[in-house]
Amino acid sequence: MKRTTKHKSPKKENKRTAYLKRSDRSSILHETIAQWPLQVIDIPKAKITLNYEGKKTVAECIATVPDAILLEVKSYGQIGFHDDPNLLIHGDNLLGLKALVTKCGLKGKIRQVYIDPPFATGLEFRSGNGRVATISSGNGDNLAYSDKMVGSEYLEFIRERLIFLRDLLSDDGTIFVHNDYKVGHYIKILMDEIFGEKHFINDITRIKCNPKNFSRKGFGNIKDLILFYSKSENFLWNEPRVEMTKEDIERLFPKIDSGGRRYTTTPLHAPGETSNGATGQPWNGLFPPSGRHWRVPPKELTRLDKMNLIEWSSTGNPRKKIFAEEVLSKGKKLQDLWELKDPPYPRYPTEKNFELLKRIINATSDPGDIVLDCFSGSGTTLLAAEMLGRRWIGIDNSVLAIQATIKKLREVPNLSEFTVYECEAIDKKLHKGTNQ
Ligand SMILES: C[S@@+](CC[C@H](N)C(=O)[O-])C[C@H]1O[C@@H](n2cnc3c(N)ncnc32)[C@H](O)[C@@H]1O
Repeated sequence: MKRTTKHKSPKKENKRTAYLKRSDRSSILHETIAQWPLQVIDIPKAKITLNYEGKKTVAECIATVPDAILLEVKSYGQIGFHDDPNLLIHGDNLLGLKALVTKCGLKGKIRQVYIDPPFATGLEFRSGNGRVATISSGNGDNLAYSDKMVGSEYLEFIRERLIFLRDLLSDDGTIFVHNDYKVGHYIKILMDEIFGEKHFINDITRIKCNPKNFSRKGFGNIKDLILFYSKSENFLWNEPRVEMTKEDIERLFPKIDSGGRRYTTTPLHAPGETSNGATGQPWNGLFPPSGRHWRVPPKELTRLDKMNLIEWSSTGNPRKKIFAEEVLSKGKKLQDLWELKDPPYPRYPTEKNFELLKRIINATSDPGDIVLDCFSGSGTTLLAAEMLGRRWIGIDNSVLAIQATIKKLREVPNLSEFTVYECEAIDKKLHKGTNQ
């Protein structure tokens, strides 16, 4: 497998976050290095809220999570690419997220979060003998994970984790929550409550599979959705551009000049009158149409005309020529409909498309940043982060998921160091595990 970005992360002295220094790793894990700041969770009051039975206050959500310890199991990969090892945590993610704050001091340090939680399907997902299966009752294969939690219990399960994730995100960080048409609209309201409606950026429609002939009444479902929120207005954004297709070029640049170059034209004026400035003045005796102004001053219009960059219609209306080659190299803006189907032969149930994760990570983080997935499954996010030179943290409470992740990552040449931890409640009686 080939890396797309140089692996070693750049030195960012002030930005680096040392979360588990190699020298004192084992001692640090059993102490609390940062108190959970109960009072300082600054979630603004939402205008529209979702009410359901068993909904706790934010303070209760935080206070009811017991303290956890991280027990080091084993390290893989090569020391030296990053200041700290990446982390793969086996255990309930609510405990794991709290431990990231209290044991690793990562509050406000995560640049990018992607989660793909169970979708409340009522099913069990199994895996064995190199195949995966979705079934509602047991068979010979091993249980990968159970998705039996539904209704208000499910929503509160997601909400509790979102509260912790928001606190872990840096102020310029972003979160992507992958879900489907059955639960997505409820989760949207919860995310509006936690992250603020004004920080909702996109609801990405993802084409997940080929059309199917469902027997049930209604339209076939071939999409799921990804909710994209930022923590603040000032979030990191590396504009993704996509290559134009031949059809795009023919549609957008329908004209061909005498030299065989494709082009289109755009108006030279824009809405709004300029009362005093140059863009309201006549050009060669021609005024901008009423209620409009020239896009550039008349002097610049003359220069463009001399360069043969203005086309005159038969009625004497000038328009600016835009050539396909000027725009081609920049590519086109990526829209919110993504056709990135999941692997046809997954190694883990509900394993997601690798290119999907690369796209998200590239757009919202830089090399060296920390990417977190606390429903990491077979580690698709972690692999994408690794390949793109990001640091990463994965949490999953399924043994099969942790095994699949280790297997996937160990196929990467020059893998950076990662350490597997077991995460356990200090007082196990206080924590009823989920899912397993
Ligand atoms: C939909 S799968 C994620 C698949 C993943 N995106 C991939 O590409 O392989 C959801 C994962 O969440 C894990 N999970 C569910 N509840 C959890 C919890 N409370 N703590 C940690 N992991 C949990 C499951 O074990 C499962 O692996």
